[in-house]
Amino acid sequence: MKKILVTGGLGFIGSHTVVELLNDGYEVVIIDNLSNSKIEVLNNIVEITSKKPDFYQLDLRVKSEIKNFFDNNKVDGIIHFAAFKAVGESVEKPLEYYENNIGSLVYLLQEMRNRNIDNFIFSSSCTVYGQADELPITENAPVKPAESPYGNTKQIGEEIIKEACYANNLNAIALRYFNPIGAHDSIKIGELPLGVPQNLIPFVTQTAAGIREQLSIFGNDYPTADGTAIRDYIHVVDLAKAHIVSLQRLFDKKNKHPFEFFNIGTGTGSSVLEVVKSFEQVTSQKLNYKIVDRRSGDITAAYADTTLANKELNWKAQKTLDQALLSAWLWQQKNI
Ligand code: UFG
Repeated sequence: MKKILVTGGLGFIGSHTVVELLNDGYEVVIIDNLSNSKIEVLNNIVEITSKKPDFYQLDLRVKSEIKNFFDNNKVDGIIHFAAFKAVGESVEKPLEYYENNIGSLVYLLQEMRNRNIDNFIFSSSCTVYGQADELPITENAPVKPAESPYGNTKQIGEEIIKEACYANNLNAIALRYFNPIGAHDSIKIGELPLGVPQNLIPFVTQTAAGIREQLSIFGNDYPTADGTAIRDYIHVVDLAKAHIVSLQRLFDKKNKHPFEFFNIGTGTGSSVLEVVKSFEQVTSQKLNYKIVDRRSGDITAAYADTTLANKELNWKAQKTLDQALLSAWLWQQKNI
């Protein structure tokens, strides 16, 4: 049985991926420092899967802790989620973002090289494309200068991995996520934003739940049909499954290059107003919202061309926006 290290395995995407790995028969060891996650998630993973992954509360910024971990654990592959992810905060605290997102990535890759561990999956983002000139966005779209230190850590992270792959005989896949939303069908795991949510869906569900008074829609003067910005919202379980097939591609040595990257989205763009309307429809909740100014740094539209992922990974998002929104709402109600 193959053993997979999942860093950040108690986070939003990490926990859903751990569930899929366990259900697929992998052994899992999680490293998480609980900086943006809760230990209860571990129990919920056990409830869903009836399997208990190993867990280490470690900080990947501490090189000696990582070394110690690998001295005591043999793994066959790594899925690396652990990172800071708030765009706005990264502008305030760039050095913390570089230390956490880049420092720990380098340490992990060094350990892989030193111990001949292959097979690395990296959490990347469609943010690397900025406002792409053509939609939908293919993997051929150029990487644009990053708009934030957070976005820069994803671009630099990919470059570091690519160079390490070629220099040190490693194989890696970066998954460029579009907008992950939703919760597991069991409604036992989901997104747990700390403080005021920055992302649309948690803000929507918290507003419907009465925790926030009103949703602010950032701008209705974008050059789109209804004036609000367009994104590609993908159910987190579909996204989790993309990690498993990517890992399997590396184990099967089906990758065409030591470093590959794929867009992971649904291929469909939805505007903020469309999301609000769908949410109201599937949940029978009336959402209190107002239109305010654009949020700085936001782009007009981003949605994926998923042809490459469909073909090479034999993967396709299965769940609809409505299913994702409903699961997010059920999860919200459970967590009030
Ligand atoms: N939005 C609102 N009101 C809110 C929150 C968001 O109108 O309260 C709008 C945004 O302006 C945007 C859309 O909803 O048009 C989606 O916003 P999110 O913050 O949920 O997602 P983003 O597309 O801005 O950001 C996501 C990830 C980032 C990543 C980025 C790449 O959260 O990590 O995609 O484009 F960098």
